[in-house]
Amino acid sequence: MFLRTIVNNAKRLAPNIRGMASQGPLVDLTVDNDGVAILTMQRPPVNSLNLDLLKELSNSLDEVARNKNTGLILTSSSSTVFSAGLDIMEMYKPDMKRAEQFWTTLQDVWLKLFGSNFVTAAAINGHAPAGGCLLAMSCEYRVMVSGKFTIGLNETALGIVAPTWFMDTMCHTIPVREAEYALTTARMFTVDEALKVGLVDEVATDKADAISKCKDFIEKFDNIPSLARAVTKQRIRQGAIERLQKNRKADLEDFLHYLNQPKIQQSLEMYIQMLKMKSSKN
Ligand SMILES: CC(C)(COP(=O)(O)OP(=O)(O)OC[C@H]1O[C@@H](n2cnc3c(N)ncnc32)[C@H](O)[C@@H]1OP(=O)(O)O)[C@@H](O)C(=O)NCCC(=O)NCCS
Repeated sequence: MFLRTIVNNAKRLAPNIRGMASQGPLVDLTVDNDGVAILTMQRPPVNSLNLDLLKELSNSLDEVARNKNTGLILTSSSSTVFSAGLDIMEMYKPDMKRAEQFWTTLQDVWLKLFGSNFVTAAAINGHAPAGGCLLAMSCEYRVMVSGKFTIGLNETALGIVAPTWFMDTMCHTIPVREAEYALTTARMFTVDEALKVGLVDEVATDKADAISKCKDFIEKFDNIPSLARAVTKQRIRQGAIERLQKNRKADLEDFLHYLNQPKIQQSLEMYIQMLKMKSSKN
């Protein structure tokens, strides 16, 4: 399929002292012949969502809205990870000013993706823990590539209470009872389990198949007036959207407060060590 690159030169951001600086564009936004935008996260090794990647995602979502693209497919350039979720290094011993910007940008990305006018689908071509799962659930349709991948909100395992809007997003995706159980137990679903509970809508053989299935979903709306479609979606999602819009500042303060708790910092430190140990064994 011929793809035209429309945005591949996202602004490089100022380097920072904590080793999270970006090496180049962290997303690739292309539009195919049918007007479907494909937004690919490309921050190796695991697309962890740091401030820089979130800013580029936010800018790309603005671009898709401005271009009036038919729909958006969110995916990853990695062959094994959709996104590892929030970059833990943004939360571990943070610079509080940057942490504030980080959280505000995450809120922006969610509001733009969850509340978008355009049709959204996620081609989940690998693991999607935590924030990765949040991004996928914020879309209207999810296709996950089969394999030994997992998806879910695992915040409680790190001693973190997932923000209400993360919970709302899950409750919009799977039954409330399942969401409560999954959130409290930090459940990571296999692909088959995710399909069974409705956390994903379809399973694909590979990334190309996932994108093709996402496109089939987007094409379902070819004969539906787009305004009626968008308003219907937004009204169904309105409660969750308004809850965050009205509480953005309190939600930010909660996050900053959590970061300042020694217990949270200890859990993050242990978690980072565990990841490093696992990574060195790979
Ligand atoms: C996504 C995941 C399944 C991928 O597994 P994998 O392909 O085997 O990759 P690894 O675990 O070896 O991770 C690769 C590197 O990314 C780092 N990394 C992984 N997830 C990260 C995150 N969320 N934030 C920052 N760094 C992360 C690892 O520490 C490792 O770094 P190193 O190479 O410097 O040692 C696994 O990395 C994972 O579970 N990550 C944590 C997800 C999570 O709990 N996120 C919640 C954040 S609130």
